Order: sequence, then C-alpha cells, then structure tokens
Amino acid sequence: MEVRRKIIIGNWKMNGQSKDLVDINLLLKKITQKEIDIVIAPPATLLYEFNGLNTQKNLLLSGQNCHQVELGAYTGEISAAMLKNAGANYVILGHSERRKAYKETSTLVRLKASEAVKQGLTPIICVGEHLKSYESNQTLNVIEKQLRVSLNSKIICDNPVIAYEPVWAIGSNKTPSPEEIETVHSFTRNHLSNRFGEHAANHCRIIYGGSVNKNNASKIFSLNNVDGGLIGGASLKAIDFLELIMIMKNSLT
Ligand code: PGA
Repeated sequence: MEVRRKIIIGNWKMNGQSKDLVDINLLLKKITQKEIDIVIAPPATLLYEFNGLNTQKNLLLSGQNCHQVELGAYTGEISAAMLKNAGANYVILGHSERRKAYKETSTLVRLKASEAVKQGLTPIICVGEHLKSYESNQTLNVIEKQLRVSLNSKIICDNPVIAYEPVWAIGSNKTPSPEEIETVHSFTRNHLSNRFGEHAANHCRIIYGGSVNKNNASKIFSLNNVDGGLIGGASLKAIDFLELIMIMKNSLT
C-alpha cells in the first residue's frame, strides 16, 4: 500500500440545507473510497443527515471547526466529541476565514487539534500567508511559524492533514504557480521531518487549497509533495466535485 493516500476534501463552508442532499445522492452512487480518500465537510447541521445517507461509507465526513474543550457552558459552540458522534472522521481547523473573522491563533488551533485527536478525529490543519507576505517573499517564514505553533508531537502521532491555503488564493481564482506550491509543500515536509522524524514526514498528507478548479487541478495534484486538495467553491455541486475527483484519480498514474 502506498504510504500516503491522496485525499480530496470538499469544504462547503456556510452553504447547504437538507434540500441540497439530493445532489449528494448522485455523488454517493458514483464514488468509492477505493483509490483516494473523498471527504465532505458540510455545515454541522447536515452532518448527521449526511451520515444517514452514507450507508456504504462512500464518503468520509468532516467538521469545519470544533471547540478546544470537551463540553461545558460554551453557548453556540460544537465539540469534537459531538462531531464524532454525528459521523465525522475529520475536522478542519485554523481555516483562514476563522483566523480572520474569529481571531483564531495558531495556539488555539493546537489546542483544538489536541482535543480533536483525543476524540478520535483527524485534524486538517490549515496554514497560509496573506498577499502582503506573499509579495514580500515572507511565505516560508509565515508557514514555519504557523506549523511550529499549531503542531506538537501528540497531534503528529495522529498523522494530521496539513492544508496549505494561501489566503489570497481562496475564492479569488488566483493560485500560486505549481513551482511555488511545490516549494511550500516540500518546505512543510522538511519541517515535519526535522521536528518529528522521517515517519511523520512520510505519513502526514500535505494538501493544497485555494481556487482549485478543473483547469488547474491536474497540474496541482500531480506535484510531488501535493497529497490532495481542499476544495471550496468547486465542491458545492456534485458534478463539479466529481470532475475534480476524476482528475485526482488520473493524477495517480
Ligand atoms: P476555494 O476555497 O476553493 O473556493 O478557493 C478553498 C477553501 O477555502 O478551503
């Protein structure tokens, strides 16, 4: 078996209601987990319903965020244990939209990731630089800092997924060049190797997110150190997401 299975994750963000699950039945009929891992992160309100439709486990499910403690008086929050209970296998943490709108820091991301691991969820930890940092060649410094603070050896034992998502590339139809993406991913792999050893570096999947679409996916998914994709806009319609799933499968050969 290959060391790192490729993974494609559809992040629905704050989109989707029960009626949108009709579209998901189409997806469920057409996919299996045979060659790659296929994950959807619907809004938390749909997780349970989603899980009910997913009888053959053709899809893996993810939350979009969780709280850092197990339970208690935190009105409006959702715990990792609740996501797990609703059928999730993964949870996205530290997405730049949360870092920006809710002032989430890498320290908080580490606490959330620790709680997720404790509850049996695999964290998908997002890192990425703002346009200003990109333009002033600070990308690797930003990524290094985010990785250093967001990860620890306990989290690494769970083989988290690391998602490189340049903030300026999200929903903008702009992406870094394939060479730039590969540079950040191999830098991330080296960071993991230096801090946590070869095993961690070989087993953690480093995926790219930010304006992935059917026109650029093939190039991105074929890069050496790209183990998958985190897809926003192009995951909302089953037909678009299916196209990206096919492109990822083709990138295996
Ligand atoms: P996008 O979003 O594919 O719409 O750019 C990606 C993300 O925010 O995870």
